[in-house]
Formats: sequence, structure tokens, C-alpha cells
Amino acid sequence: MIHQHLEEADNEPIGWLNGPLLMDEEYLKSILTVSDEIKKRADVLVVIGIGGSYLGAKAVQEALSPYFKHHEKGIDVIYVGFNLSGAYMNQLIESLYDKEFYINVISKSGSTMESSLAFRVLRQYAEERYKEEAKNRIIVTTDPENSLLKVIAENNGYRKFDIPSNVGGRYSLLTSVGLLPIAVAGINICELLEGAKKAAIDLKDSSPEKNEAYRYAVIRHALYTKGYRIELLASFEPALTSIHEWWKQLFGESEGKNKKGLFPASVNYSTDLHSLGQFVQDGSPLLFETFLHFKEISDDYYIPYKTLNDDYLNFLSNRTFNEINSISKQGTVLAHAEGGVPIIQIEVDRLDAFHVGYVIYFFMKACAMSAYLLDVYPFDQPGVEAYKKKITQLLIEESIIH
Ligand code: PA5
Repeated sequence: MIHQHLEEADNEPIGWLNGPLLMDEEYLKSILTVSDEIKKRADVLVVIGIGGSYLGAKAVQEALSPYFKHHEKGIDVIYVGFNLSGAYMNQLIESLYDKEFYINVISKSGSTMESSLAFRVLRQYAEERYKEEAKNRIIVTTDPENSLLKVIAENNGYRKFDIPSNVGGRYSLLTSVGLLPIAVAGINICELLEGAKKAAIDLKDSSPEKNEAYRYAVIRHALYTKGYRIELLASFEPALTSIHEWWKQLFGESEGKNKKGLFPASVNYSTDLHSLGQFVQDGSPLLFETFLHFKEISDDYYIPYKTLNDDYLNFLSNRTFNEINSISKQGTVLAHAEGGVPIIQIEVDRLDAFHVGYVIYFFMKACAMSAYLLDVYPFDQPGVEAYKKKITQLLIEESIIH
């Protein structure tokens, strides 16, 4: 019944559900054209956004880029507008002084305070640096109808990408919101979309036996019903840190309502095995663990053989770090299971654009189903509005006194 509601609710913001299957070729081409122009003419793309307007792009970029330099087919993509730190803003502006840059401001509502303030600053900086040409270097991604940013873009002649009206912020990664910055970072967005398309086809079945996203949703719901209140997403590859952040926002904002929902938390192993791992193994039994594991990671390094085996590690020589990492994952699963922690394992073949696209879609569909299983509406965030009202009220009062 929920499946039918999800698939057929035309008046709900579920454009993302068939988005990858119905992707308009012209829309995709226009994203690629602008991305090529930015890569040719800039050293840096500054993405302005908060919540669903930046987390997905950052997550995919970091998952698929080298650790110590940017992707050879892309340029640097940096993010701002997701905090109110003056130091962050000042240092970001300073870092741009000897670089050519473009701006992509992303906001569905077009009036979120954090990103609007950052846009005000960066727009002024771009106008000072590039004069008339600044308008060619500012790309706006926003709602096609109701958005102040849309009006600003039209009045100033900025280029604009629409966020489909029937796709909400945290479900918008596979629209221009995520696709433009990800393409500029040098990642193949066509492969990303192919993976999502495959997931959209594979995960159409109504039965959890055949639909892995629903199976995941049903298992985590069963654990919630048993009294668990925290889901800990665990991975063994540091590149996935921002995928965890994206996942936390997706599930946290979709489910945490009406005093219900699992609190989404995350750990990066091995790092956190020497920190939170103690609590997971042995602390209050509040949580269950979901391991997100990519079986094949293209880059690797061999442990060398040493004639003088003074560190006694020759038994590991000629094995690779990734092999040891995988065994370390198996050992952690066994230890935590013995410690009484329920474990869910999500195994993905390879860390590449196709499989990341698949995983993104998998989590979005699982999330919508999970929220409905809790009898919670997945596509709004009334709690976020509450803090916004308080801040605005305080800022207005302070300005009057100032
Ligand atoms: O998922 C959501 O809808 C939110 O997290 C938004 O993405 C976030 O609040 C930013 O909103 P906007 O894109 O309107 O600036």
C-alpha cells in the first residue's frame, strides 16, 4: 500500500523517483556545456548552498576524487554558505585572490539566510573583480517559480538552472543541484545517472524480498520497533565521510518528526575504532550499525617485505592495505555482533560513479519508505522552520537596538 502511494502520488514531491529514467537530454547537455565552460575559464568553482543544496555534491565529489589533489578532469570545487563563520568566509575570499573563479549559488527557496548572505558577499567580490563580466560567472540554481533568487537572476542576467518543482532539497542530488558541481569536479555524471537509472529499475518491486531498498527500510524499522534509537552508518574508506553526512541529513530531516525516528549517526573506521568503537562494542545498547562497504577500490598499496623484521609485520607483507582493510571490516562486524550490536551490511561492488549513483538512489527510496513505515511524512522539515523563525526574530530585535 505504501509502495503504491509512493509510486503513484502525483501531487507529492516525488519527481526524484523517476528522475533518472526521465532525464531530459537537453537539460543534461546544458549542464555539461556550462561545466565545460567553467573548467576552461576558472581555477575554482565556488558553490554556495546549505543542507540538500550542497551536501550531495560534496559527498559525491569527495567519494570519487583523489585524496591529495583534485580530479585530473576537473577543477577545485569549494563550498560556502553552509555556516555563518566569519573566519571561514574571510579565508575563503582570501584564497580566491590569485584564482579565476565562477559562482554557483544553489537554493530551492531562494531565501535561506546562510546561503543568501554568502551570495551577497561573493557577488560583490565577483563584481569588484570582474566588473561587467561578473554576470557571466554567476550561475543560479533555484526553483523555477517561487524564489527570490530567480528574480535576482532574471534582473541581473545570470544564467539559471531549474530545480524541478516536484523535487525537495535533500532528494535533489541527481538534478542540476548536484550534477553541475559534480561535473565541474571532473566526475562523469552520465555514469552517475546510469547507476541511479539501474537502481530506479531494480528497486521498483513492491516486495521487500525483491526490493533491497525496501528490505533495508523494513529491517531498520523492525529494529526501531524493538527499541533501538540510533543507527550508526559505518564505513572503512575515509572518502565516504561526506556520503555519511548526506545520508544523515536525508534520514534525519525525513524521519525525525512527531517525536519519532532513528537518530542517524556515523563513524569512519579504522579511525573511530580507536574512539567511538569502545562505546559501540561495550557501551549503552542504544544503537545498531549499518556497514556501507565498497568491495573494490581502484587505488591500493602493498605492504613491503623487510629483511630486518624488527616490527614483526612480515606476515602481512605482499598483502595490500585494501585487503587488510576488508579483513578489518569483517573482524569489526564479528566483534560488534558478539557485543550484541545488531548489524546491517550494504555491500556495493565498486567505488565508482555508476555504483555511487546506484547507492544514492537506493538510500533515497529506502528513506521515503522508512518514513512512511513510521507514519511520518518524508518530504517536509517543519522543525527546521522553527529555528529559522527564532533567529530572524532575534536578528530583527538586535538590529533595532544596534
Ligand atoms: O532538504 C531540504 O529541503 C533542506 O535541507 C534544504 O535543502 C535546506 O534547508 C536548504 O534550503 P534551500 O535550498 O531552500 O536554500
